[in-house]
Amino acid sequence: MGYTSVYDNVVLIGFMGSGKTSVGKILARQLYKDFVDVDTIIEAEEKMSVTEIFETKGEAYFRELEQKCINKLTEKKGQVIATGGGLPIHSSIAEKSLIVYMDADFDVILSRLPKKEREKRPLLEDEVRARALYAERIDTYKELAVFTVDSNQKIPIFIHVIRDFILDQRVL
Ligand code: S3P
Repeated sequence: MGYTSVYDNVVLIGFMGSGKTSVGKILARQLYKDFVDVDTIIEAEEKMSVTEIFETKGEAYFRELEQKCINKLTEKKGQVIATGGGLPIHSSIAEKSLIVYMDADFDVILSRLPKKEREKRPLLEDEVRARALYAERIDTYKELAVFTVDSNQKIPIFIHVIRDFILDQRVL
């Protein structure tokens, strides 16, 4: 029994450290879908970490890579895609994507991220600027989202909410 799906892929968006990669991996496994992570793909293709790309080539270059990467990924179907926090701000995402916003408070995000994880994110280095960036971005995340999940809680508490939404809507 086939059905026509409205969406091609699930795309997770949200601020740095909101849990997109961890949630994406679990969701993909539970839904028998492929998991892909934009930052990881870019790092592999450039053979550099995101921090090194920012340092040597600049943020604008990184944003171009993000747009190219998401364009290429969304040519395919049936994936759970984790994006970097700035991707939906700087790039457009194919219309047939089920965009899920992982909504976590700034202070929760900070308290969750160990120093090592913070150091991987050049835009988190300065806490005052990062807080301002969060405030700037939050409306865009909300506007783009088809579904918003409160990700202030621990992943096992809310993962089924996203999974059930996807299954109920037969979106993939
Ligand atoms: C960024 C988020 C990072 C990474 C880069 C820029 C941003 O990804 O793409 O450091 O602009 O918010 P995560 O959201 O996975 O940390």
